[in-house]
Amino acid sequence: MSKRYYIETMGCQMNEYDSDHLSRILEDSGYLRSGDPEKADFVLLNTCSVREKAEQKALSRLGRLATLKRKNPRILLAVSGCVAQQRGVDLLERFPGLDLVLGPREIGNFRTILGKAEKGGMRVASINTHGTPAFFSGGFEYFQRHVKAYITIMEGCDNFCSYCIVPYVRGRETSRSPRELLDEAKSLTLQGVKEITLLGQNVNSYAHEKMRFPGLLAAMNEIKGLDRIRFTTSHPKDLSPELIQCFAHMEKLCSHIHLPFQAGSNRVLKSMRRGYTREKYMDLIGELRKARPGIAVTSDVMVGFPGETQEEFELTLDLMRRVEFDNLFSFKYSDREGTPAARMEGKIQEPEKLARLARLQDLQRAITLKKNRELINQDVEVLVEGPSKKGQGLTGRTTTNKIVNFNCDNKCINKIVHVTIKRASFNSLWGELTSSAR
Ligand code: 5AD
Ligand code: SF4
Repeated sequence: MSKRYYIETMGCQMNEYDSDHLSRILEDSGYLRSGDPEKADFVLLNTCSVREKAEQKALSRLGRLATLKRKNPRILLAVSGCVAQQRGVDLLERFPGLDLVLGPREIGNFRTILGKAEKGGMRVASINTHGTPAFFSGGFEYFQRHVKAYITIMEGCDNFCSYCIVPYVRGRETSRSPRELLDEAKSLTLQGVKEITLLGQNVNSYAHEKMRFPGLLAAMNEIKGLDRIRFTTSHPKDLSPELIQCFAHMEKLCSHIHLPFQAGSNRVLKSMRRGYTREKYMDLIGELRKARPGIAVTSDVMVGFPGETQEEFELTLDLMRRVEFDNLFSFKYSDREGTPAARMEGKIQEPEKLARLARLQDLQRAITLKKNRELINQDVEVLVEGPSKKGQGLTGRTTTNKIVNFNCDNKCINKIVHVTIKRASFNSLWGELTSSAR
């Protein structure tokens, strides 16, 4: 009987990419995918530690998965991602059932490490931060069932924002070669992928020899059969005029940018070491909207950074009202061990952070809803991904990354269609098909 593997992914899209990479290696080594950890021979949890809550969730899930080992001692249990990197061998001590701890920069060595673990008797923690990022070489058929895929173009971050653990766990910025990236993108396209998202903690600082990010985008834009290109995440301090201009003339580049602002007060931004002001941020949004009218802007924001006063929090709300983000990921600040912010004075109490978050989210709900309603009766292009989760026909996304559900038979799947929007809620849009697939 074939061996089976089970992978659970937490956190960001870079983890999704890494999980795809690990899955491909497992499938290549004779494993079949299982949706049930109890039926698997290899169980992997890919974790995130960017915020305290994510880390706690990962540790408690790992505890649950470790109990599987009592029922079946032959299971191999592995943990990867940022919690693996940060906690390393401590995890082997804390979870006696754990066999393998794999840092994000060790994923390129997974095949060898898996071989060792399968031989048994050895518990391994592999957490070098100088290793090469994971990448796919062509030839696998893994992506045949997907219309969208991710490519990690760079790993790590050199920014050291004062609250952030990423530079400590993901290491220094390392960019992959354009040749390798273009080969990967072409291979994905040949397998039927129509939309590629280029990933990195800070894609704007992609640099490989003479190649910069706008050059890489231009080369991707030439790939035949590829319809849509996205990228994330961008840092406002590195969003160059050249990159903004890409939105003016690159037809495959989607009308969406995720540009975290984090806070609306210049004092807080400085204390976060973000390297821009609120004025500079709003100028960038103006430039982006000039280059690509109708571009959707989403962002990340934090409330309750150490020392954040009520007035400073109001400035965050003020910036939100001025920019009118399409959507916003909002978080309560949490201490991350070893970061400068964790040592700062003026920590905000939990109830106050919760109250600020609730106010902020109420405001954003109203803005998102208003923006979604503006689309009613408009015709939008949708890349159709498959049946919608709630069983209401099919689902896909607009170039602005909004979810659209509509009725159509399955021939639309994996195609771009036109849909007229009829209803809008906070999370999604509902529409009617106006033209058949192209
Ligand atoms: N506390 C709360 N939120 C954080 N983020 C990063 N570090 C922290 C922290 N210590 C948020 C930022 C970032 C997003 C991925 O997570 O908003 O953009
Ligand atoms: Fe963290 Fe700042 Fe780097 Fe983003 S840019 S990963 S917030 S250090």
